[in-house]
Amino acid sequence: MKSVAYILKSKPDQTIYTIAPTASVFDAVKLMAEKNIGALVVTEGDAILGIITERDYARKIVLMARMSRETPVREIMTASVLYVRPDQRSEECMSLMTEKRLRHLLVMDGGELIGLISIGDLVKDIISQQKFIIRQLEQYITGELG
Ligand SMILES: NC(=O)c1ccc[n+]([C@@H]2O[C@H](COP(=O)([O-])OP(=O)(O)OC[C@H]3O[C@@H](n4cnc5c(N)ncnc54)[C@H](O)[C@@H]3O)[C@@H](O)[C@H]2O)c1
Repeated sequence: MKSVAYILKSKPDQTIYTIAPTASVFDAVKLMAEKNIGALVVTEGDAILGIITERDYARKIVLMARMSRETPVREIMTASVLYVRPDQRSEECMSLMTEKRLRHLLVMDGGELIGLISIGDLVKDIISQQKFIIRQLEQYITGELG
C-alpha cells in the first residue's frame, strides 16, 4: 500500500477545487460537472468549513424538493470533515472511508490543506498493486517452469 503523499502526486490534476459557503448549490454542482468531480471543499479565506458532495445534493436538494439556485452551499454542506496526513497509508484511508461511509478525505500537512483523495484514487492504487503482484507471480511461475 502506498502513502497518501504518493497517491496525491499520482493525481493528474493537482488543483484543490473549492467553493465559498455563500455560493449557490447550482454553481457548486456546475463546477463539479465542469471539472468532472464529485466534491468541493467549502472554504472561507484560509478556513475550511466543510465539504459539499453529489450525495449532499441528491439528499438535501433533490429529495427535499429545494431550489439549488436559491440555496447557499452553507445550508447543505457536510461540516464534519475527516482529514488524513500525507504519511498515512492508503489502506488506513480505505478503512476510514468504509467505516465512516465517506468517498472523500482531505489531506492536511501541519494545519495546511494540501489535497483531497477520493475512493476512486484508492481503488486505482489497489488495482495497480494487484497488477504488479500478478506480473511478479507470472514471472516467478514462468521462471520456475522454464
Ligand atoms: N483512473 C483514475 O485515475 C481515476 C481516479 C479517481 C477516480 N476515477 C473514477 O472516477 C469516477 C468517480 O470517482 P470517485 O467516486 O472517486 O470521486 P470523484 O469523482 O469525486 O473523484 C474523481 C477525481 O477527482 C478528484 N477530486 C474530487 N473532488 C476534488 C476536489 N474538490 N479537489 C481536487 N480533486 C478532487 C479525486 O481525488 C479523483 O482523483 C469513478 O468511476 C472512478 O473509478 C478514476
